[in-house]
Amino acid sequence: MRWGIIGTGDISDRVAADLIATGGEIRAVWGRTLPRADAFASRHDIAVATTSRESLFERADVDIVYVATPAHTHAEIVREALDAGKHVLVEKPIATSASDAHELFARAHAAGRFLMEAMWMRFNPLYVEMIDRVASGELGGISSVRASFGTPFHPRPGKTRPQDGGSILRDRGIYPVTLAHWFLGAPSDVHAHAAIVDGVDVDGRAEFDYGEAFAHLAWSGTRFLDLSAAVSGERGWITLEPMFWAGTRARVHAGSAERIFADPELVQHRREGNGYGPMLRAVTTAVQDGALEHPWHNAAATISIARSLDWILTASRR
Ligand SMILES: NC(=O)c1ccc[n+]([C@@H]2O[C@H](COP(=O)([O-])OP(=O)(O)OC[C@H]3O[C@@H](n4cnc5c(N)ncnc54)[C@H](OP(=O)(O)O)[C@@H]3O)[C@@H](O)[C@H]2O)c1
Repeated sequence: MRWGIIGTGDISDRVAADLIATGGEIRAVWGRTLPRADAFASRHDIAVATTSRESLFERADVDIVYVATPAHTHAEIVREALDAGKHVLVEKPIATSASDAHELFARAHAAGRFLMEAMWMRFNPLYVEMIDRVASGELGGISSVRASFGTPFHPRPGKTRPQDGGSILRDRGIYPVTLAHWFLGAPSDVHAHAAIVDGVDVDGRAEFDYGEAFAHLAWSGTRFLDLSAAVSGERGWITLEPMFWAGTRARVHAGSAERIFADPELVQHRREGNGYGPMLRAVTTAVQDGALEHPWHNAAATISIARSLDWILTASRR
């Protein structure tokens, strides 16, 4: 499949390398400045570098675009790409509100184009196995999810103000929230707290209430919070080792008293390249099959998670 890349930051570099390794052809790259676009093109051997998104979206030799710009720009860029007839893979979060996410999927459906948020964690072989095993009932009914992602590195170098780094909930908290949705679904109530600086959340935590079940979730750009996660059920639990959202190792505490308490099963998967290959292959296959969504991270899941993100911020400001 022939790709165009929008944005020349670190994540674009990592994804471009995995795209090439998985057989994708990158035909053009857009950057805000020509020197950066040119430098990116030469690093990845891309023929066309441009500062005009319109000219990239008009290209007949580009089937799909990967968007990796700051979150507040996603909705506008995705609209431009869909309106020009391109399929789109857009970095997380797809947009900065559930209503924008909903509108983008409606637009993609109307245009008959594929759209997916790049939730690479779902395609990580470790999660493919863990989700299958939980679905098969190995842990029994799920009673809780715990996940946190905190490092005191926000905003990242080069971004001096919190607003330049964007919402830490939408940037990092999206991973713990997504994990809770996979194993427990959308919550029936949310209790949340956030630290807001210059109008932007920089640290936060939430309890998702599901009646008998619950999720404890935390994220931060101002302090370390354990980078692991766990999902517990009637018959045991799974711990997902740091960094859980990009993890390769889990321990399954289930099956026998020995396994639960003394000798949990270690499950380990090899990371392929920078870790985006499985998602990129899945997107390629889905587009080639004519699908408009990927079943593992479809419109309904993406919008439901975006609703929880909105809800957390609303609950935090009460
Ligand atoms: N999946 C993952 O593992 C992962 C990891 C990190 C980030 N992300 C996601 O990737 C996306 C990019 O994040 P980032 O922190 O890497 O961004 P970033 O470095 O600030 O920017 C990435 C690119 O967007 C451009 N850009 C900056 N401001 C822009 C604007 N107002 N309009 C259009 N383009 C703009 C930058 O241009 P300049 O170079 O000219 O500044 C750069 O080319 C975010 O959605 C983030 O959540 C995903």
